[in-house]
Amino acid sequence: MRKPRRLSNEQLAPWVWALPAGRDRRTEAGAETQTDSAGPAPPVAVSAPPARIDWAALFGNANPVEIEVGTGKGLFLLHAATTRPGANFLGIEIVRKYQLYATTRYAIRNLPNVKTACADAAVVLRDYVAPGSVAAVHVYFPDPWWKKRHRKRRVFTPEFAADAARAIAFGGRLYIASDVEEYFLLMSAILRAMPCFAERPEEAERAAPQTETGYATNFERKARESGTAVWRAVYERTAEAVTVVPDPAE
Ligand SMILES: C[S@@+](CC[C@H](N)C(=O)[O-])C[C@H]1O[C@@H](n2cnc3c(N)ncnc32)[C@H](O)[C@@H]1O
Repeated sequence: MRKPRRLSNEQLAPWVWALPAGRDRRTEAGAETQTDSAGPAPPVAVSAPPARIDWAALFGNANPVEIEVGTGKGLFLLHAATTRPGANFLGIEIVRKYQLYATTRYAIRNLPNVKTACADAAVVLRDYVAPGSVAAVHVYFPDPWWKKRHRKRRVFTPEFAADAARAIAFGGRLYIASDVEEYFLLMSAILRAMPCFAERPEEAERAAPQTETGYATNFERKARESGTAVWRAVYERTAEAVTVVPDPAE
């Protein structure tokens, strides 16, 4: 695949959603500060909660919105945004060079229905996505972080699954895929323990790659070329309450 020429930040700006300035991991949840002084009750400063994303304002229409977590080089959204112009897509990628690479692909094609964010997807889902405001969340080939001491960097945790469930409208979908069996089984154990998700095995096959190249994502291509098995599943968001289940990894 030829590397697309990187466009300037100004050229990419229409395709980018940025976290509001001044928000970082520590302040995003609405930090509280309190002094130790005796005497009158100390002032309690509570920062304003982050504003939820106004999807209609972001995309200029009221079409349903889907989120991809960990966009990588952006192949999945390139295909999805091109073939489904009636839906809007936000790709969240924590590594800036990948976000810029993917955004360049969308900008070169002038795709109106895809935006990207360089951010921790767990934070965006938790703090910036209004409950029930998206039709689907896609999580394809999340980093496995093999070493035990790095496991806490994995994006897919019980809290992440709960935040994704809150974001997805009733009847919406959560799509997962991985070439790491152990990680896929962990994600599956979390989702199967949540009554707010119902597995839809009949849809998993349909969710398999439909692109002209036969791959849904860059990692899907790598897995298939090396003969590695790929596991995938689709879950429907039910109307049941969202629960945070015990972490099966612990
Ligand atoms: C193994 S790659 C898969 C990329 C793409 N989904 C694919 O299948 O080709 C995982 C991607 O998720 C990104 N990522 C990891 N943690 C993330 C997080 N917390 N929020 C957003 N992106 C994340 C990584 O930078 C990387 O690009």
